[in-house]
Amino acid sequence: MTILVTGCAGFIGSNFVHAWLESTTENIVNVDKLTYAGNLSNLESALNDPRHVFVHADMADREVMDRLLSIHRPRAVINFAAESHVDRSIHAPIDFIQTNVLGTYHVLEAVRHYWLHLDDPEHASATLKKSDFRYIQISTDEVFGTLDPDEPGFNESHLFEPNSPYSASKASSDHLVRAWHHTYGLPVLTTHCSNNYGPYHFPEKLIPLVIHNALSGKPLPIYGDGLQVRDWLYVKDHCLAIMRVLEKGQVGETYNIGGCNEKTNLEVVKTICQSLDQLRPLKDKSYSEQITFVKDRPGHDRRYAIDANKIITQLGWRPLESFETGIQKTIEWYLAHPEWVSAITSGSYRDWVHQQYA
Ligand code: NAD
Ligand code: TYD
Repeated sequence: MTILVTGCAGFIGSNFVHAWLESTTENIVNVDKLTYAGNLSNLESALNDPRHVFVHADMADREVMDRLLSIHRPRAVINFAAESHVDRSIHAPIDFIQTNVLGTYHVLEAVRHYWLHLDDPEHASATLKKSDFRYIQISTDEVFGTLDPDEPGFNESHLFEPNSPYSASKASSDHLVRAWHHTYGLPVLTTHCSNNYGPYHFPEKLIPLVIHNALSGKPLPIYGDGLQVRDWLYVKDHCLAIMRVLEKGQVGETYNIGGCNEKTNLEVVKTICQSLDQLRPLKDKSYSEQITFVKDRPGHDRRYAIDANKIITQLGWRPLESFETGIQKTIEWYLAHPEWVSAITSGSYRDWVHQQYA
């Protein structure tokens, strides 16, 4: 059997490919446009694995998607591909509408046409039936908006109240997915996860940016007062949750996936500094001296938190890593892969850093 995934040269997707190859015997076809966030070096070991087929293409290219679906006949499609960085969405929202809204629409249409004909006599197979097919949309907790300090975490029935161009574009794609189920019967599931961290995380997001800047002797920029709260989920735990949803999730349902690790940004940055002080000590100072408070992000959501009770009780998933164990693994990974970081941070990355922090 085979699954088809989109956007798996990016952070979460590449971790998913590695986890898939490690824990299943099935093939995986990976369609990625290789934007600035997509990187073949994230997939290095997987590129030589005959069970992984990498296709450099835009998921919005119907001809390519139709061809791939008809050749590989996947039992599931998982849509990871997106523009994913809130700060970039503030500078260039159109890219987010193009990829997250229109791109998802094109994938849904290609998948719907493929799925519709799965039981036709000329395509019918003993192993793949229309009723067994699944489409999974990888979404975010950010579609729910922001929480007050003492409000309970977002559950699956929380209203959509997106506040950034990024979260609004993700909420739009979630609505399309829901409509393709209700109108056309496409067997979809949607997951909303909290902030991921771990290996292959592009250093424009808080955790890898702080590790990279700390080691390069640069300022560690904290937006506003640094008391915004995020729930941190180790990326491998997220990948295992998606596999659980694929195998056990109920069609038409949504599942919230969280790490049960709420931290302020300041706590996160200080934890990284303390850990680096031990693993890569500076002569006579702490990395925390590099912390710098900078202008806040416009419309900055104050707090995200996930109520993951549904996936825990109904599907038996729970995160294996605490923030303390996950961040340690993450920092050790970055220290062990300086060549990955320097390849990623050359070229257009520098233009972004200049635009955002100059
Ligand atoms: P990422 O930005 O690291 O990777 C996105 C990938 O999608 C890249 O490889 C890029 O080349 C590819 N891509 C973009 N447009 C494409 C297109 N038109 N066709 C094919 N490929 C395309 O993102 P990520 O952090 O790995 O996030 C993956 C998914 O998870 C996204 O949908 C994101 O919204 C969601 N998510 C991420 C987080 C997080 O903390 N990173 C949290 C919640 C939800
Ligand atoms: P980020 O990693 O961009 O994820 P998201 O915006 O999707 O939650 O940011 C995580 C938090 O860290 C968010 O509250 C913004 C903050 N932040 C900083 O304080 N400084 C930075 O340089 C960055 C990139 C983020």
